[in-house]
Amino acid sequence: MERRARLLGPMYKQFYQTPFVPVRGEGVWVTDENGKRYLDAYNNVPHVGHCHPRVVEAASRQLATFNSNTRYPSELIVDYAERLAETMPDPLKVCMFVCSGTEANELAWRIAMANSGGSGALITRSAFHGNSTIIGALDSSTIPTERQQAWVATVPAPEHRGIGDRTPKLTASEYAEQYRRAIVGLAERGHRPAAYFACPVFASDGLYSPPAGYLNEAIAEVRKSGALIIADEVQSALGRTGTHFWGFQHAGITPDIVTMAKPMGNGLPLAVVITRPELVEGFLKTERYFNTFGGNQVVAAAGIAVLDVLREEGLQQNALQVGAYLRGRLARLMDRDERIGDVRGTGLFVGVEVVRDRASQVPAPEIARVLIEGLLQRGVLVGITGAGRNLLKIRPPMIFSQDHADQLVEALESVL
Ligand SMILES: Cc1ncc(COP(=O)(O)O)c(C=O)c1O
Repeated sequence: MERRARLLGPMYKQFYQTPFVPVRGEGVWVTDENGKRYLDAYNNVPHVGHCHPRVVEAASRQLATFNSNTRYPSELIVDYAERLAETMPDPLKVCMFVCSGTEANELAWRIAMANSGGSGALITRSAFHGNSTIIGALDSSTIPTERQQAWVATVPAPEHRGIGDRTPKLTASEYAEQYRRAIVGLAERGHRPAAYFACPVFASDGLYSPPAGYLNEAIAEVRKSGALIIADEVQSALGRTGTHFWGFQHAGITPDIVTMAKPMGNGLPLAVVITRPELVEGFLKTERYFNTFGGNQVVAAAGIAVLDVLREEGLQQNALQVGAYLRGRLARLMDRDERIGDVRGTGLFVGVEVVRDRASQVPAPEIARVLIEGLLQRGVLVGITGAGRNLLKIRPPMIFSQDHADQLVEALESVL
């Protein structure tokens, strides 16, 4: 730990207070340096399971065969693009390859600016979309309002009224009014909106799935302003919601551009921007783009293997069934413990809201921290998210089973 702090510097904080050094992964299991096994209920990058043999084999075989870049024609890369495009509605059919969620959103932003002629961005209040200068400026959760860039405007996430009441706080029209105001605010600061970045499950905002049709009016406002809609699928891609393959389908949004990263290569840096052909043409009138490592043959081979495993092992359906079972079991825990304010989410993306007590509904990030530490000691990995940093974030590999859900709930019960 001392060597890590000295050589990597203070930026690399420990996830937990208790030292935890994972050295091996298999399926939903992670083993630490002392040989202790942990149930991974947190990591979505190993989407089809840690070290899935199909992905390992496909990537290793390709690494031993040929690896270069997208400048050279490659059947494999085209096959992957075709497989991805098959999962998208028309006319979202052109794939551009990058290496991270940040790069995908940065490219999407440039495409949106070039085509819309705008220069302003709309985001939800606690969104996170990446870490570059431009995309990092969209990290409204850590940038105080007074330091926010003039070209950025925030709108609220579709929050619920309160504990036990899933009705959105605002009516759909009141919610759309917030977007109208944000667009007017941008205009007053000299910016016409170029894009609305939407995380379809509002993950960093606290995980919300508003009722069907609720977002329509707000989205219509965005469209009226001339902005393009970018669906940031970094958290919600590849069947995670259980109901749909893509989060934007779950949310009922029709995007112009879709960005994806974390789970695509099961750990390899595979990230993609998918959009309409004419938007790429519009972008290339004034700009150029090339990404040396983006979409190379090795990551394409991994990406194809991930899609194969998802289909053959029925993992979207598994997310739907196991997610519902897990939320059901967690909801029963809520009946018995005042500090669990809500259990929400969709598919295998589940949030457990931790509060001081149900009457006050005061967010309790300090209790949430104690809970994830206690879960670690009981051999279960869970994270934290949400505007109040009080939402336990349960987002396991897609092979998570009912047995695993039972183990997680029993561990949480024991920590509580
Ligand atoms: C919704 C969302 N978008 C974008 C990113 C940035 O992705 P990356 O870390 O691959 O740059 C993240 C990372 O956590 C994310 O959660």
